[in-house]
Amino acid sequence: MKGIVLAGGLGKRLAPLTTITNKHLLPVYDRPMIYHPIETLHRAGIKDILVVVGPDNAGDFMRLLGNGTQFGLRRLDYAYQEKELGIAHAIGLAEPWVDGEKMCVFLGDNILEKGINREVSLFRRQKRGAHILLKEVPHAKNYGVAEMAGVNIKKIVEKPKRPRSSYAVVGVYFYDRSVFRIIKGLKPSRRGELEVTDVNNAYIKKRQLAYSIIDGFWADCGASIDAYLSAQNLMARAHELQRVRRRRR
Ligand code: G1P
Repeated sequence: MKGIVLAGGLGKRLAPLTTITNKHLLPVYDRPMIYHPIETLHRAGIKDILVVVGPDNAGDFMRLLGNGTQFGLRRLDYAYQEKELGIAHAIGLAEPWVDGEKMCVFLGDNILEKGINREVSLFRRQKRGAHILLKEVPHAKNYGVAEMAGVNIKKIVEKPKRPRSSYAVVGVYFYDRSVFRIIKGLKPSRRGELEVTDVNNAYIKKRQLAYSIIDGFWADCGASIDAYLSAQNLMARAHELQRVRRRRR
């Protein structure tokens, strides 16, 4: 399985912190934000990673991450998204690199306390389709929201004014190769982007979207300055707990 980390975007919701640098290069506790998804993928056994960068600060990502040896990766490659055309468009750029394998797409500003080891092994066993992660949150309207029909997801609505559930879609997606066919059939949304939510709804139509509800904290650092701050506090606390546990051993 291959890993794709998306690190484009303008990070407008974190302005002015993002006026002269890219959101994913900002610190989250003791390391740059983008380290978190790369390390989470590596811990789950994914050793080939493609980082999709935008025009701003593209060279900084190379200077910071190099060829990935510092993370123990087998391969770290880069793709270049010239314009802000959306998450699904960025995934589409990875087609030749993915070379028919399954993939885990990780938004570079998402941090998961418990990692993705469980979901990676579930998806390795899944024959076809996609697998997404959900998390119950108090303000679901800031995210993609899963509308449920019993235990099934009926549809996903992107940032609804009145969310029909409190299950937010986490920015970590597992896809099979059919994702590229789906992306080619997408039309841009009102904001002119190819939306990942439309990709997931296409899998729902094919009855091929599985999901897990995750434990532990989930931070979408780019959602707002408060979300960014709480991600830092959560990471600081997680590190403190680790230190205490190590001392007790
Ligand atoms: C994106 C997705 C949204 C998802 C979120 C998770 O939103 O469009 O469905 O819930 O990531 O981080 P963005 O944060 O890019 O606005």
